[in-house]
Amino acid sequence: MKIYGKEIKDYVNDLINEIRKVVDDKVVVAAISGGVDSAVASYLCWLAIGSNLKPVIIDTGFMREGEIDDTVKRFEEIGMHVEVIDASSLFYEALKNKKDAEEKRKIFREKFYEVLSEAVKNYNASYLVQGTIAPDWIETKGGIKTQHNVLVQIGIDPEKKFGFNLIEPIANLYKDQVRKVAEYIGIPKEIINRQPFPGPGLLIRCVGEFELEKLKALKNVTFLCEKYLQSINASQAFLAIFKKPRMATSNKIVEFLKETKRIIGIGGRGFKTYEFYELATGVKGDARAYGKLLGLYYKEYDAFLKHKDEIIQEFSRILPDYTRLLIMISDPRPAGKYAIALRAVVTKDFMTASVPDLDMELAQKIVDEILKDIRITHVYYDITPKPPATIEYE
Ligand code: XMP
Repeated sequence: MKIYGKEIKDYVNDLINEIRKVVDDKVVVAAISGGVDSAVASYLCWLAIGSNLKPVIIDTGFMREGEIDDTVKRFEEIGMHVEVIDASSLFYEALKNKKDAEEKRKIFREKFYEVLSEAVKNYNASYLVQGTIAPDWIETKGGIKTQHNVLVQIGIDPEKKFGFNLIEPIANLYKDQVRKVAEYIGIPKEIINRQPFPGPGLLIRCVGEFELEKLKALKNVTFLCEKYLQSINASQAFLAIFKKPRMATSNKIVEFLKETKRIIGIGGRGFKTYEFYELATGVKGDARAYGKLLGLYYKEYDAFLKHKDEIIQEFSRILPDYTRLLIMISDPRPAGKYAIALRAVVTKDFMTASVPDLDMELAQKIVDEILKDIRITHVYYDITPKPPATIEYE
């Protein structure tokens, strides 16, 4: 097993030696998130400098139910004690009613580093280690989206701005390489196999305007569906929440619907189109797109799912200012102010991704769980690959 032409053993040893050389006898704070990237970066530092490493996890308020406690327990198992810093009210306050995806990400990043620099000061540390990986900075630099943990690569000097230097041991690696290193150094399986969870967490899955109520509803349905989401055959499967969309049409939407009916071989009535209030991120060529979302309803929705690849091609051609197509998999009900999208993707490197087929029985179970929350009115399955969409909505 090789990484960039080196045996994994040598690759890891070189990394550890380099960390030792850079850090010397200084203190380093590690920002743990619960995911594999920050676990690998921190554990490499732990192997290099031992107790001079101070691992912390920030409770931003945007983690899933129980996630902080689980993470702390897993790190205890490998001998690392992680300090929890509760900063949720700080984050909620700063993000209240903010709508724009990039603005939300930037505020999140600002608060995140404010809290971390406090921790660095308290520990009298000189460095912060974080698990930045290649797609994070490639996409941030490319202007596709602001990853919460990318600073240096886009010209922010953390020393000047926050008072510490960064150590990013795995910034050249892609996800599959990170997993190989994780296995080699003995990171617990639950962490290695955990589906990627973005740094800004559920914030970027509360699409559009941030409200506490919206977050609470998303946390609840995510908790209710967790076991079903795990059993979807996907690299990543999660839920996102939106304001209930409105029925809408336009000449272009009519043209698209006509093409869709031709593709699935069903004509006639019973089709509905919905336009969402929010925008969602996508990629066009190498650039970032922030486009509209279209919801499509037909009672026998599996007809859409069977032909999803062809439908998406027509969607991108006819409606180029849209980044997402969502198929309603519930019956619309009048009550409730939010809609939920189920997002599932299959991918190796997370730079491109396809949408897996959805098992109808499983889909029904997920819908049933979600609709237990009376705040929800529609449930959709997002059938847009990356590109033209991104995996997350913001
Ligand atoms: P996108 O949405 O860019 O996602 O197609 C690609 C992968 O990256 C994850 N992701 C993030 N991870 N901080 C992270 O640590 C972030 O700000 C962030 N944004 C997206 C996403 O979940 C997917 O696995």
